[in-house]
Amino acid sequence: MRDNRRARSASRRRTRTTTAIVLLAALALASCTGEQNALDPAGPFAQAPHDLIIPVAIIAAVVFVVVQGLIIYSVVKFRTRKDDDGSLPVQTHGNTRLEIVWTVIPAVILAVIAVPTVQGIFEQMDEPDGDVLTVEVIGHRWWFEFYYPDFDIYTANEMAIPTDTPVRLEMTATDPIRDPEQGVVHSFWVPRLAGKQDLIPGQTTFLNIQADAPGRYIGQCAEYCGLSHANMRARVEAMEPGDFDAWVDAQATPAEVPEDGTFEAQGRELYHDLGDGRQACAQCHQVWEGDGDRQPGTGPDLTHLMSREEFAGAIHDLDEENLRAWLEDPDAMKAMQYEEIGIGMPNLDLSEEELDALVAYMLMLDPDA
Ligand code: CUA
Repeated sequence: MRDNRRARSASRRRTRTTTAIVLLAALALASCTGEQNALDPAGPFAQAPHDLIIPVAIIAAVVFVVVQGLIIYSVVKFRTRKDDDGSLPVQTHGNTRLEIVWTVIPAVILAVIAVPTVQGIFEQMDEPDGDVLTVEVIGHRWWFEFYYPDFDIYTANEMAIPTDTPVRLEMTATDPIRDPEQGVVHSFWVPRLAGKQDLIPGQTTFLNIQADAPGRYIGQCAEYCGLSHANMRARVEAMEPGDFDAWVDAQATPAEVPEDGTFEAQGRELYHDLGDGRQACAQCHQVWEGDGDRQPGTGPDLTHLMSREEFAGAIHDLDEENLRAWLEDPDAMKAMQYEEIGIGMPNLDLSEEELDALVAYMLMLDPDA
């Protein structure tokens, strides 16, 4: 009796575990939808692989059902029965006709799939026709830098593009020889706009993207690149061509210089020189005020910082509160001990007043203000 009860409660526990696993799997699959959904393409370079994967998935599903069905059929039909005399079934070895059939059918399926696949790979690799916008993408630890060579514009984390225009990304990662700590492979992936492509130090790789409609397309680094890999996100802001032209005009103007004697002017001085032998912002960042060429620093360009919505690898909203917290203690904001890795935004040991002045200066770096 007791054994029976124990067996029943064990079986109930098993049922509950199975139910929990099924529910968790359903939840995990539900997260495949949403903003980073490769099955919801928003432009031709994401549409092409999508149009290929659907028929291939259908063929794979049919093969799966047929093979599993045959296995289940055989297991049930040829199971051991009570009245079995224990003798072995008739043993067969080899069936030339069957073997030819199950070799030829998969070979034909693979050959048929290979034609559009190879064609698609070349189409994705080629430079697109028509009016193409070029954007250089540089992978840093841990943020993406975007440079528009046609307009001499630098930005970080957020890439603006015009809709219905093919964009050719020329991608690389920071140079491992100049910067041994940073030279690692990253991967740029905005699932609704294109497949993923690696960014390799010392090499240039290419990726085409295009958005049919205005909007914000979310992406991230898709290649493990160190402890903060999960904090390396990217945004593509697609806008109507007219809005994009306005964006370019705004970004191509020099940063505003605060008037002498203002609090912001104090912040600007601190930006260039913190004193006490402390590292200043200007050693790594650039605020271009119109003299000479724009020179990228090792950190993100801040010329029009406040035109962006996010910062720090696009993991924090760019507002006064977060900016202050970041300047006060960057490690806490990235949940990461940068000192152990030896790179990234340092803690500048700022006093309250220095913080206020620097934040006031940063907040005026906005072309639309
Ligand atoms: Cu960069 Cu992962």
